[in-house]
Amino acid sequence: MMKPILNMLPIRQTEDKRILVSQDRSAGCEEARELYISRACLFRSEISLTDYRKKLKPQFSLLEADEAGPSPSEVSLRYGLSPQKVVMLSRNENPYGPSPRAVAALRDAALHLHRYPDARPFVEAVAEYTGSPEEMVVVGAGMDEIIITMARLFLGPGDRAVIPVPTYTYYSLAARLCGAIPVYFRRLSSFEVDLHLPEGEMIFLCSPNNPTGNAASEETVRSVLEASDSIVFLDEAYVEFAKANLAHLLEDYQNLVVGRTLSKAFGLAGLRLGYALAGVGLAEQYRRASPIFSISSISLAAGTAALRDRDYLRECVRKIKSERERMARQIEGASPSQANFLYLRTRDRSTRVAEQLLQRGVVVRDCASFQGAGDHHIRVTVGTPEENEILIEALASLDSESGSIRKDDLIDFS
Ligand SMILES: Cc1ncc(COP(=O)(O)O)c(C=O)c1O
Repeated sequence: MMKPILNMLPIRQTEDKRILVSQDRSAGCEEARELYISRACLFRSEISLTDYRKKLKPQFSLLEADEAGPSPSEVSLRYGLSPQKVVMLSRNENPYGPSPRAVAALRDAALHLHRYPDARPFVEAVAEYTGSPEEMVVVGAGMDEIIITMARLFLGPGDRAVIPVPTYTYYSLAARLCGAIPVYFRRLSSFEVDLHLPEGEMIFLCSPNNPTGNAASEETVRSVLEASDSIVFLDEAYVEFAKANLAHLLEDYQNLVVGRTLSKAFGLAGLRLGYALAGVGLAEQYRRASPIFSISSISLAAGTAALRDRDYLRECVRKIKSERERMARQIEGASPSQANFLYLRTRDRSTRVAEQLLQRGVVVRDCASFQGAGDHHIRVTVGTPEENEILIEALASLDSESGSIRKDDLIDFS
C-alpha cells in the first residue's frame, strides 16, 4: 500500500515523510519503513554530496591525503603488540625527548592557561639562537603551518611550485591547497638539486633533504636564488644534524625564507612549534597573514627553554650523529646522511620490506609514497642504541631474497 506512494515522493518531501513513517510502529509497515529510511538516507546523501561538490573549490577536489605512516597505536592494534614494544623509527623524532628544562617550563606555563599566549620570549630565544634580528623571525604551529602560510602568500591558482624530488611531501600538498601546480623535478643521482630548474613562483628546497639525507651545497642554493626571482623556501628542519646551515644567505637574498622546527633535534614534535627567518619586509607580511595565537602558551614556554638549553641539544645531537654513523657502517645500502635518519635502498619492494619490519614491531617509513623515490627505498630514523640494534637485527632476519639491502645497489657518491 505504501510502496507506490514512496516511489512517487518528490525528493524534497523525503525527509519529512521519513519521520512520519518511522513513527509508524505497526508491524505491517516495517518493510515500507525500512525502504523509506534507506531511500531518505540515500537521497539525503545525494543531495548533500552534489551540493558540497558544487561548492568545493576545484583545487581540493582531487587532493590525496598526506602520508605519515602508521602511528604506534595503529601498529599495536594491527599486530597485537603493546605500544611500548613498538619501535618507532618512521618519523625522525628525537628518541631522547626534550630538555628537562623545557618540560619544567611547560609545567609552569600550565598555571597560566587562562591567558592568551605571548610569543615574544620565544621570538627572542630564536633570535639569540640563530643570531638573527627579531624582526626577521616568524613563528608557527610547526613548520608545516609556516609552509602553508608562505604558500598562501606566494602561490595562487595556476601558479607553479617547483619541487626537486624526492623530498618532503607537504610542499606539494601546500601548493595544491593554494590552487598552484606542483612541478616535480628529479634530483641528480647524488640527490643534489639539478640546477636546470623550471620556472615557478616558489621553489622548495630541503637541506638536509628528507628522505635522502644529503645537504645542499651553498653553491647550489646560491645558484637557485640567483637564477630567478622566485621565492625560495629553504627547509632546514634537520639542520642541527648537518655540517653547516645556510641562514647567512639571508643577508644577500631578499627572495629567501629559511624554515626551522623544534620537532627534530629539540625533541618537541608533540608540541608543534616551528619558526622561519626571512627579510624584514617578508616577515612582516607573514605576520599579517598568520593567526596571532596559533601556538599554545605551553609550546612557546617549552620551546623557549629548549632553545636556551644548548648543552642538552649538543648532547642529543652528538649521540644521534654517532649512532647514525655506526648504523651507516652496519647497514648495507645506506646513503650518506647529514640528518637524523638514513635512506636505505632495498632489494625487494620497499612496501614489502616495511611490512615485514612492521610485523617485527619496527616502524620505518616506506618511501614509495614520496614522489620520485621509486619503490625500493625505506627511511629509518636514528633511534637509541637499543632501538637501532632491534632494527639492525630485524633487517638481518628478513629473508635474504626479499628484505636485505643490496650492496650492489649502493649509489656511488665518490
Ligand atoms: C623536511 C621537513 N620539513 C618540515 C617538517 C614538519 O615539521 P613540523 O613538525 O615543525 O611541522 C618535517 C617533518 O617531518 C620535515 O621532515
